[in-house]
Amino acid sequence: MGLILEAENLKKYYGEEPNITKALDGVSITAGQGEFVSIIGTSGSGKSTLLNMLGGLDVPTSGSIRIRAGKSQK
Ligand SMILES: Nc1ncnc2c1ncn2[C@@H]1O[C@H](COP(=O)(O)OP(=O)(O)O)[C@@H](O)[C@H]1O
Ligand SMILES: [Mg+2]
Repeated sequence: MGLILEAENLKKYYGEEPNITKALDGVSITAGQGEFVSIIGTSGSGKSTLLNMLGGLDVPTSGSIRIRAGKSQK
């Protein structure tokens, strides 16, 4: 099954030292075509931040995101 999503070492820091919030601090995740993935965590653990990065609504401080476009998007 081919990968449609590969995110590597994502970091998202808000604010500046000494009041920095590390919402994501080195998150890597992959998803295969047809795979269902749940993201589970306590409030404030970074779920929304991660989804905003994966959806392209916000940019990570560092790290990479690769999304494979389907045939219909060519
Ligand atoms: N725009 C923002 N500015 C500053 N801090 C933020 C911002 N968005 C989220 N945070 C902080 O990042 C952390 C993760 O938040 P969030 O991704 O909303 O977690 P979840 O969705 O898992 O509850 C929290 O400490 C939150 O306060
Ligand atoms: Mg949330």
